[in-house]
Amino acid sequence: MRLTGGGLQQTRHLASFMRRIRRPVRRTGVGFAATMTDRHDPAAAQFRYRGNALYCERIQLTELARQVGTPFYLYSQNGLEQQFRSFEGAFDDTPHLICYAVKANSNLSILSLFRRLGAGFDIVSGGELMRALRVRADPRKIVFSGVGKTEDEIDFALHHGILQFNVESEAELQVLEARAATARMIAPVAMRVNPDVNPKTHPYIATGLAENKFGIPVRCVLPLYRRASRSPHLRVTGMGFHIGSQIISTAPFVRAAKRVVELVQTLRASRIELRYLDLGGGLGITYGDESPPGPAEYARAFKNLVKDLGCTLILEPGRAMVGNAGILVTRVLLTKKGRARNFVIVDAAMNDLIRPSLYGAYHRIRPLTLRGRRSWKADVVGPVCETGDFLARDRVLPRVSAGELLAVMSAGAYGFALSSNYNSRPRAAEILVHGDRFRIIRKRETFRDLMRGESARYLPSG
Ligand code: LLP
Repeated sequence: MRLTGGGLQQTRHLASFMRRIRRPVRRTGVGFAATMTDRHDPAAAQFRYRGNALYCERIQLTELARQVGTPFYLYSQNGLEQQFRSFEGAFDDTPHLICYAVKANSNLSILSLFRRLGAGFDIVSGGELMRALRVRADPRKIVFSGVGKTEDEIDFALHHGILQFNVESEAELQVLEARAATARMIAPVAMRVNPDVNPKTHPYIATGLAENKFGIPVRCVLPLYRRASRSPHLRVTGMGFHIGSQIISTAPFVRAAKRVVELVQTLRASRIELRYLDLGGGLGITYGDESPPGPAEYARAFKNLVKDLGCTLILEPGRAMVGNAGILVTRVLLTKKGRARNFVIVDAAMNDLIRPSLYGAYHRIRPLTLRGRRSWKADVVGPVCETGDFLARDRVLPRVSAGELLAVMSAGAYGFALSSNYNSRPRAAEILVHGDRFRIIRKRETFRDLMRGESARYLPSG
């Protein structure tokens, strides 16, 4: 049979679909295609089926959804604690400080939990500093990263006596020095080096390449240290790097660390001693079938390189601490059989979880109740008026029907934190589970919340 263009295309589609269901296919972007293998991950392991029902720790999620409504984010306290402890354990023979990257999930209850476990914080804005202070974080365990700190933010952090400013350019160093001089203070500084290393992740979250806006090029680093060490208003405390996020092998970290360690040694030769070496964040997690190193393997990769430096290590993990300890629960509103595709339309959307739309990220989707039924291939989409509004595309799923509940897995990091009110949708509730108890740690927003600070008056009065 001669294939027409359309027929050929169909055959190709079918062939690629068959390949996809037989073995996992690497996708571009953040994350990989699905497999049904459930790799060991202490945080992910908090979400388990018992009988036909999905549980978080000892809470049955269908029942919880009935009580709190959908959509909602749900976090496992055990999962969060275990991840923190495995990081701590991995570095326990090396002087270190874990500064949780607040941006990954900045809910006060989660920050408070990490603070009680002994974490410091990596912040990137005045708002994040406020949150950290609100949970009574010790300012001497706070590092301030970011390419564009405002004068107000710098003053705020200076007055609270944070551990260090991670400086990303000469211009920023000048502003910091000037603010410290005005306040008659001494600002603690670490230069963030751009080691020009490819982290092999989605281009939007690669930060350590020469073409990225982040960090100071290797050749410019030493003169800046010399300058800083001569200033009466700056105190040189450390050096750091952060090469990107969702990095799933140790190789890029090692490459970056080698370059930075060399710089630390060169500085030492000119009698500029550094107390802290900041290894940044970036360790990836399993969304589909990735097998990133765990904290222990990650720690081992650095230890030999840094052992003779005598520096205290600073770590800034975000995703690896919270990603697999959280899910997004959503209800199926209806299903729709299109001519070219099937759609499962749910009550969560790109405003709740933007990662699939923004990075083409893969998140596993599981039904809250298992029932023997056929599967079909569908896009899981939200009600937002954009074709880019999807949580999953071309996904083989059980044939769910209206009213059923689904869990979007691995949504603890950069889920709620990146959510918005687009389409005037109130943001979802956030819930923390511990054992057989749960607490609403952020209320679902109301219509009133949506309009806070606005006015229906369109002309100045008077
Ligand atoms: N330190 C700095 C300076 C950072 O910029 C970041 C993340 C981290 C630490 C924490 O990185 P992590 O351990 O979480 O990989 N929205 C994206 C991720 C953006 C990451 C931004 N920087 C996503 O949803 O994949």
